[in-house]
Amino acid sequence: MAKTGEMSITVSGNGPYIVQGEMMVAEQHIVPDAAGMSVEWREGKEFDHPATFRLCRCGHTKTKPFCDGTHKKIDFDGTGSASRDTYDEQAGITEGPTLSLKDAESLCAFARFCDPAGQVWGLVHETDQEGPRIQFLHEAGSCPGGRLVAVDNETESAMEPRLEKSIGLVIDTRAKVDGPLWIRGGIPIPALDGYEYEVRNRVALCRCGRSSNKPYCNGSHAAGAR
Ligand code: FES
Repeated sequence: MAKTGEMSITVSGNGPYIVQGEMMVAEQHIVPDAAGMSVEWREGKEFDHPATFRLCRCGHTKTKPFCDGTHKKIDFDGTGSASRDTYDEQAGITEGPTLSLKDAESLCAFARFCDPAGQVWGLVHETDQEGPRIQFLHEAGSCPGGRLVAVDNETESAMEPRLEKSIGLVIDTRAKVDGPLWIRGGIPIPALDGYEYEVRNRVALCRCGRSSNKPYCNGSHAAGAR
């Protein structure tokens, strides 16, 4: 566990995420365009919370987003099966003319920001043109689970959006379901067994309880909408 005053989101064994520290917890809605494509994020209701609090990850609480103890009644199995390789070890890379795309498919949270304008995997090949380059950066940077990362070919550095340390409660408007917890800005995520998940700017943690890649979201919440 982190020391007092530090931020952390601890993945408990078969129960909730135990969150410590001052950070905003607010709904983050996926906004679709007229064609149903995910185009932007809209912040919604913010939730007050004490310095230490518990967020449901079994998906069955009646006091969303907070844990109400239901995980015990349903015998929730929160066993983590996610790879413990780093993002860079898992990601494949597609090179474009000025920017490249790193892609670790197992981290897909099914937010679908990668689909508009010919998809992010097509746009990467047009990053020597201003319009497609901007769209490419928007699509890669909007991916909540950090599956997709844009990289500058010259500096080889990731081009990440600036995100305050905060927790987003993803609402998938088109699929009409709650999505993952969107952990933003690089908050440490320890497990109770002492393992520390990789600290990243964008991480999507499962909160429906059905991911086969726990603690990460794998899009299972929207299975009926695929
Ligand atoms: S994790 Fe406690 S109610 Fe879901």
